[in-house]
Amino acid sequence: MGNRRRVAVLISGRGSNLGALLRASARPGAAAEIVEVISERPDAPGLKRARGAGLPAVVVARSGHPDRSSFEQALQDSLDAHGTELICLAGFMRILSPAFVARWRDRILNVHPSLLPAFRGLDTHRRALEAGVRLHGCTVHLVRAEVDAGPILVQGAVPVLPGDDPATLAARVLEVEHRCYPLALELVAAGRVRVEGERALIDAPTPGTRPLINPPA
Ligand code: GRF
Repeated sequence: MGNRRRVAVLISGRGSNLGALLRASARPGAAAEIVEVISERPDAPGLKRARGAGLPAVVVARSGHPDRSSFEQALQDSLDAHGTELICLAGFMRILSPAFVARWRDRILNVHPSLLPAFRGLDTHRRALEAGVRLHGCTVHLVRAEVDAGPILVQGAVPVLPGDDPATLAARVLEVEHRCYPLALELVAAGRVRVEGERALIDAPTPGTRPLINPPA
């Protein structure tokens, strides 16, 4: 237990991915330990989840700071105070500065609700439906200064079904987010990820190749 990577989860809202990360880190042998949850919104429902797990639930509100650099200094102070080694962004709605991202290079993970590099930015489910894609999903990646870009760790795909609306599609994607994020964190925390150029190489047994084909409905 003594050798686990210390992880802070940064949230702005509901915190369902936080919940998935907490459940995974409670498993025996997990390589990651959540030591702190930071929300940039004082009313984020995810803070309750953190407190329920007995974790420090810290509010660092952007509005409480005159500029981004003092906001980020407050984040950094809290991360330092908890001996944080890795950061997981989980629905964190603030863009981090290039300087902050550089300081934490290859130690910040994010989950994005699309199969990157498709549909960067907001409103991904509506845009996927409008584009008529047959497969949609989520991506867990290492964070770079450019938003929704960076070495891809894990992706999960789901079918887009006839009759889907953004809410039904979001719910299907969220289920795979909850599987992909803990897996990605475990790989990074266990030291099984090496970054080469803009690709993340994973030191794991080669999986069988099984094509994932979305059949016509
Ligand atoms: C998720 O859909 C995630 O992909 C996106 O924000 C949402 C956060 O949901 N970045 P939750 O707060 O983890 O429930």
